[in-house]
Amino acid sequence: MTLAIIGGTGLTQLSELNITGRQTLTTPYGDPSADYVTGELNGQQIIFLARHGHPHTIPPHKINYRANIWGLKDLGVTKIVAVAAVGGITADMAPARIAIPDQLIDYSYGREQTFFADDLDEVTHIDFTHPYTPSLRQQLLSAADSAAISIVSTGTYGCTQGPRLETSAEILRMERDGCDLVGMTGMPEAALARELGIDYAALAVVANWAAGKGAGEISMEEIAQHLEAGMSDVLNLLNCLISA
Ligand code: HPA
Repeated sequence: MTLAIIGGTGLTQLSELNITGRQTLTTPYGDPSADYVTGELNGQQIIFLARHGHPHTIPPHKINYRANIWGLKDLGVTKIVAVAAVGGITADMAPARIAIPDQLIDYSYGREQTFFADDLDEVTHIDFTHPYTPSLRQQLLSAADSAAISIVSTGTYGCTQGPRLETSAEILRMERDGCDLVGMTGMPEAALARELGIDYAALAVVANWAAGKGAGEISMEEIAQHLEAGMSDVLNLLNCLISA
């Protein structure tokens, strides 16, 4: 298995990673967000990619998701754990908690969302009934258990376009649709991984109550503070996943 971690807001680098190399790749779809960093975490070789670039400068709607995923495939990656900051919509999804979503709804638009667009021999439709690979989710749930981290074990992730946060009416609509979490980068990342046959699961770190669900407006300070609190759990969980 070659495991990759895609780090989002709050995780632009893995400081525990004992870096052994860096690869600058280009792909038929353009350049990935950053160099692919190879290194050892807990004695295991892994690959790390900063989704928003390093430093953190690429907004969610401008990320070259196709290049990012193509590059990982090129490097022989078979499993991706995507770390992503989210807003919490439903009651369990309190700031600084970690959730392992099992479903998603895509509200994003205008993103390059497939490898199966041009020069096709035949039209291709991937199955996406379970957008997060069940076996990899299970490994994350077991790792959380071993690390004694209390996580929310299911949830529906709604992917919005950003970069602005949502209105409270949009969040109420998403809640009626069945969303528990809201983020801006889950799609098309998950679908592109499926198109290339790479297992994919997400660790969603709740950064704030979604619009209208908390007291007052959402501040960047609040987001940074909760992400910092949640990231230590993410690191413990990843360590347990890798040593399992
Ligand atoms: N909405 C969308 N994406 C997010 C949020 C949010 O409230 N918080 C962190 N990422």
